[in-house]
Amino acid sequence: MMPPRQPDELSKAPDGKPMDQQPKWRQDFPIDVPQDNYVSRRDFTKFMVLTSGAFVVGQSWIGLHNLMRRFRGKPPEQPIASIDDVPVGTAMSFRYPRYEHCILIRPDEDTLVAFNSKCTHLHCPVRPQLETGRLNCPCHNGYFDLYTGRPLAGPPRRPLHRITLDIRDHVIYATGVEVQPV
Ligand code: FES
Repeated sequence: MMPPRQPDELSKAPDGKPMDQQPKWRQDFPIDVPQDNYVSRRDFTKFMVLTSGAFVVGQSWIGLHNLMRRFRGKPPEQPIASIDDVPVGTAMSFRYPRYEHCILIRPDEDTLVAFNSKCTHLHCPVRPQLETGRLNCPCHNGYFDLYTGRPLAGPPRRPLHRITLDIRDHVIYATGVEVQPV
């Protein structure tokens, strides 16, 4: 329990000088110093319980999400586009499975790759830079290899999730999601 404060204690400046010797800004905005510094044990306990609770909820949600993904099994095959819709040197976005944002890239005649466009750092969408052979995440300047999805620079440590593809009768199909090892 905090001891009762004297009235003049409320306007006492941190340097102990009387208020009329304080700079104008402090006179205009006096700080209730004892109240400002005081954190009760109850407040501290409340803070610790709430932050620990939030941490436990967050970790459980991530665990549950991973577990559900494992039981959901392989996503169904899905047509994305005709090969003619993706000329060499271009990229297009699509959604697979269901609502996940992905990017399909054709950097050269013989290569067609696709990745989930969620950066593996904090989930910002990555953008292809075909001229440099990289995918860039503008949020914190993370870079991934355009051909493999491996992180090259910046904060990301894990590769992008690769979307496996198949081409039949000039149609490109997404056939699954490959979580690449670190
Ligand atoms: S979210 Fe992509 S680098 Fe941070």
